[in-house]
Amino acid sequence: MKDLRVYFRIMKGTVKAVDGVSFQLKRGETMGLVGESGCGKTTTAYAITRLLPNNGEIVGGEIRFNNALVGRAHVATEVNEALKRTTWFEEVQAILGSQEAEIAERQKALMEAEARVAAAPEEARGPLIAAVDPIRAQVAARLHEAELIQTLRAVGAAPPSDELKAALQAVVDDDLKGFTAARRRRRMDREIETEINTIRWSQVSMIFQSAMNAFNPVYRVGDQIAEALLTHFPDMTKEQARDRVLQLFSRVGIDQSRVDGYPHEFSGGMRQRSMIAMALACNPQLLIADEPTTALDVIMQDRILAEIRDLQRELNISMIIITHDISVVAEVAEKIGIMYGGKLFEYGNIMEVFDRPANPYTLGLMSAFPSIKGNRKRLRAIPGSPPDLSDPPPGCRFHPRCRFAQEICREKDPPMVEVASGHWSLCHFAKEIYEGTLRES
Ligand SMILES: Nc1ncnc2c1ncn2[C@@H]1O[C@H](COP(=O)(O)OP(=O)(O)O)[C@@H](O)[C@H]1O
Ligand SMILES: [Mg+2]
Repeated sequence: MKDLRVYFRIMKGTVKAVDGVSFQLKRGETMGLVGESGCGKTTTAYAITRLLPNNGEIVGGEIRFNNALVGRAHVATEVNEALKRTTWFEEVQAILGSQEAEIAERQKALMEAEARVAAAPEEARGPLIAAVDPIRAQVAARLHEAELIQTLRAVGAAPPSDELKAALQAVVDDDLKGFTAARRRRRMDREIETEINTIRWSQVSMIFQSAMNAFNPVYRVGDQIAEALLTHFPDMTKEQARDRVLQLFSRVGIDQSRVDGYPHEFSGGMRQRSMIAMALACNPQLLIADEPTTALDVIMQDRILAEIRDLQRELNISMIIITHDISVVAEVAEKIGIMYGGKLFEYGNIMEVFDRPANPYTLGLMSAFPSIKGNRKRLRAIPGSPPDLSDPPPGCRFHPRCRFAQEICREKDPPMVEVASGHWSLCHFAKEIYEGTLRES
C-alpha cells in the first residue's frame, strides 16, 4: 500500500478517513493495525477488498497485491486532488507519468499473453486463451483513462501558470461531472470490479467486525460455509464441500458433530471460530481480520488468538489483524502499524516498536494498557478525543492531545521519519522520542 487516501463524501463536506497510509506485508507475515475507534482501520481494509460504501472513494495512492494493481484512484480524481495542493504542477506530471506507465505495463502484458497463445501448439492453447481475457479486460478498463491522460498531457504541455491550472481543472471537472464520462466511469468500475472479484475471497478474505453475528440465523452454519465454497469453486461437488467444511471445523477447534447446528446453538466463541473457518475456506493468501476477538471474553479471546497464530504459521498466510487493543497484537503479529486520525503514526517490527516507541501516540496507547511483565505503574489514559476527520486540526493531527506538542506541531504536517531500519514514525520529534531525550511540554 503506497500513500493510500480514501475519502467519504458527506453532507457537510469530506471525511478524510484514510489520508496517506503506506505499508508492506510479505508473504506469511502478520501485521497488527491498531488505533482508537474511528481512526480509519476498517476503511483501510475495505479499500483492499474493494468493499467501500458508495460515498467512499480511493482518491490517491495505490494498493498492489502480488504486484498486481488492485486499487488506485481514477486519473481525474487523482489530478483533481493534486490541483488543490501548492505543488500541483509537479504532482500532476508525476500522476500522469505513473498512470501511463501502469497502463503501458498492462498493454505489454496483454501483448505477451497474446504472443504466448500464438506460439503455443493448437492443443495447448485453451488455458492460455483463458488467461488473456482478464488482461484484455484490464486494458479495456483503462481505455477511457488513457484518453484522458492524453488530453491532460496536451493541455499541460505549458509552463505552470494560473491559466494552465484552470485549464487542467476544466478538463478534470468535465470528466468528473460529464454525464457520458460518469457512465463510462461506472462501466469501468464494473470491469475493475470483476477483476477484483476474482481475487477477493479466493486470495484475500476478510473476517468482518462483529462477524460472529453475520451468519444467517435460519441456515445451518455448515451449509453456509459450504455455500461459500460452492460459489467459489463451481467444479466442487456437495460431498466434497461438506468434507472440506468438516475438515475446517476440526482445524478451528469445533467438534465436527456440530456441523448441522444453527447459529443460535453456537456460543460466541464457536461462531467466531466458524467465521474463521469460512474465511479460510478458499485458501486465501491474505486474511484480514477486523476486530476478531473484540466481542469475546478474555479467556476465549486468548484461545482464539492462539489458534489464529497456529493457523497462520501452519498455512503460511499473510494476515492483517485490526484491533483497538494493542495487547492483542503482541500475541500474534510480527509487524505493527499504529493509526491515528487516518494516518499511520508508527510502523515497524513489533519487538522494536514495543521496546523503543518513537511516537507520542504509541507511548500513550502503551500506557493506557496494563503490562504483565513490566513494573507496576499507574495507567494513564490519553486525554481528549480523536479528531473529527471532516475537519482535522492543522499540523500534526495528534497535537491537541500530545504531551510533547510544540509550536511546530500546531503548524506543520509532521514528516515520516525512519528512526531505525524499517521502523517509521510520523512526528516532528521522532528521533528525540526514540532516543528518549524529549521533555514533556
Ligand atoms: N460510509 C461512511 N460515510 C462517512 N463517513 C464514514 C463512513 N464510514 C466510515 N466513516 C468515517 O471514517 C472514519 C474512519 O472510520 P473506520 O474506518 O470505520 O474506523 P475504525 O475502523 O478505525 O474504527 C470515521 O471518522 C468514520 O466516521
Ligand atoms: Mg472498524
